[in-house]
Amino acid sequence: MATLNEIARRMVSDRRGVLAADESISTMSSRLEGVGVAPTDENRRTYRELIVTTPDLADSISGIILADDTLRQELSDGRTFPAALADMGILAGIKVDTGAKPLAGADGEKVTEGLDGLRDRVTEYVGLGASFAKWRAVITIGDGRPSERSIRANVHGLARYAGLCQEGGLVPIVEPEVLMDGDHTLARCQQVTRVVLRALFDELALMQVRLDGMVLKPNMVVAGKDCPQQPGIEEVAQTTVDTLRETVPPEVPGIAFLSGGQSPELATRHLGAMQNCGPLPWELTYSFGRALVGPALETWRGDASRWQAAQRALSDRAVANAAAR
Ligand code: 13P
Repeated sequence: MATLNEIARRMVSDRRGVLAADESISTMSSRLEGVGVAPTDENRRTYRELIVTTPDLADSISGIILADDTLRQELSDGRTFPAALADMGILAGIKVDTGAKPLAGADGEKVTEGLDGLRDRVTEYVGLGASFAKWRAVITIGDGRPSERSIRANVHGLARYAGLCQEGGLVPIVEPEVLMDGDHTLARCQQVTRVVLRALFDELALMQVRLDGMVLKPNMVVAGKDCPQQPGIEEVAQTTVDTLRETVPPEVPGIAFLSGGQSPELATRHLGAMQNCGPLPWELTYSFGRALVGPALETWRGDASRWQAAQRALSDRAVANAAAR
């Protein structure tokens, strides 16, 4: 059986990255409605089948993060999603958090929940064919935000989740996302990202999480989406790499970025520019959701006659990101 380190390295090497297709039922439902598709179980299943049956996906995608409902569904040929992924040489991942909920005493800030019963769920997910897991914490920038309270609560959840996953045999993707919402500058995003990552690695050490058996999934360091001064590609790349060098120990095998609302093309260009900021102690790759599947969903719109065009749209993004690496 592969060790946690072997799985983590497989997720981030050979110019491949991870695809996030783990939208919760409510998020996936609103994305489907956004393109005129009824938000039914069957339509969510069909859309996920479109993604995983995209030809040659394994050339650029090492793993796909699924939601709990998808992990239990079948493709039209009767295989479960994890079994179909295994046939393609792609690892199955599972989102195990139960969402970001309002944090008591911290107006407008959230803490991610999902620790209750997690040990048993990890055992079940391993039995269903998962090799890795994901937990996303969100940090907001704003007036007086983030509070120390929200940072500490969120990194505590991430570290306890990571420890439980490793104990049960899943590689944890540890995702502390500093959101792009707001008009903050690049410098402010850098400062907050630095503080959050420092607090995270302190907490991971406290919980005895093995750094060589995890994947970090951070935000790129960008300006808020409403900030009037938007930095250029090279500046985002260099600032992001500088921030990670200051905070992420070299034992971590790989860093796989979320796209966070950047356009697919911009996310890819930032990723490509970072490869020139080396030498780097870790692999730098993608674990995009919207920046990989957004164009495919827009193309498909629930129309069976656009199935192949939608798969090409996904394939184009996946190949572009592998090339950027
Ligand atoms: P985005 O790339 O759309 O931000 O999604 C990545 C993800 O997995 C969020 O948890």
